[in-house]
Amino acid sequence: MRMDGEVVLITGATRGIGRSVAREVATTGATLIVIGRSHARTAALVSELHNIGGSGPIHGEVCDLTLQSEIRALADRILAEHVRLDVLINNAGAIFSQRQLTSEGFERTWALNHNAYFLLTALLRNVLVESSPARIINVASDAHYVGSMCWDDLQLARNQYWWGWRAYSQSKLANVLFTRQLAYFLAGSRVTVNAVHPGFVNTGFHRNNGLLAKTMMVLSLPMQRQSGTGAETVVWAAISEAAKGINGEYLYDCKPRKASERAMDMAAASRLWEISVSMTAPQYSGD
Ligand SMILES: NC(=O)c1ccc[n+]([C@@H]2O[C@H](COP(=O)([O-])OP(=O)(O)OC[C@H]3O[C@@H](n4cnc5c(N)ncnc54)[C@H](OP(=O)(O)O)[C@@H]3O)[C@@H](O)[C@H]2O)c1
Repeated sequence: MRMDGEVVLITGATRGIGRSVAREVATTGATLIVIGRSHARTAALVSELHNIGGSGPIHGEVCDLTLQSEIRALADRILAEHVRLDVLINNAGAIFSQRQLTSEGFERTWALNHNAYFLLTALLRNVLVESSPARIINVASDAHYVGSMCWDDLQLARNQYWWGWRAYSQSKLANVLFTRQLAYFLAGSRVTVNAVHPGFVNTGFHRNNGLLAKTMMVLSLPMQRQSGTGAETVVWAAISEAAKGINGEYLYDCKPRKASERAMDMAAASRLWEISVSMTAPQYSGD
């Protein structure tokens, strides 16, 4: 499939699923904007994408997505340098074994896995609408099935014991709720948004989580997909003709799948939206 002249942005492109998505999309001739948080790894990725035959322009951008100040600066650079954006893939995410706050005061799972998706999308929303038809993909997870929203303590400050999985599954439920509310707002705009579960994928995802997580990942290796397979539904949702027009769905293995009851709750989606606006102040227009 050729996408010459179209612009695709991928966060978390330096490793794992995001890197495989970038390698796939590079072959389409699209202009690629790949976001990493390390200058060296981002530059290495840009070279790699050129070396595998990436035929469109490839731009590397560096941003620590846990920080809203950096997300705003990133969005400003993108809007200054690109007149269109056809596909936004919010993919960068992590699970952390220890609770830590960012320098802006947010718990970092929530900051990276939810606030960054919400704020980057808000800041780029107008250019997506102007470039429509356009697509937004939020890489979520089946972890959302066991997630619940701790509404009065979303950053999980109160519990004496930190459990990274609790924060992670809540953030992935937030990805699906955000997708559903945004799809509602975007209806009729020719911009679609979908959440994707990539499967259980052999990436460096567990690297922040100590020996126990590493051991479990090694033991479960036979059940894990390779990152190329994990990228398949993301790429399908982002660029395939077959996925055109699909909006507000939770996708797995290149087809819609029923999300959890909690993820289908539109009152919860609306509540999360209001909280996210107050946390990130994106100056949305029209909602
Ligand atoms: N792996 C799985 O089994 C699985 C299953 C379901 C869902 N997912 C979801 O898939 C997505 C990608 O995960 P993955 O498995 O590919 O993980 P990964 O291999 O650890 O890659 C994560 C990517 O995010 C980037 N990143 C991490 N923290 C960042 C920050 N503060 N600012 C900017 N970029 C940052 C990393 O950059 P660096 O190169 O600098 O580390 C890397 O490029 C996540 O949203 C995850 O929740 C994964």
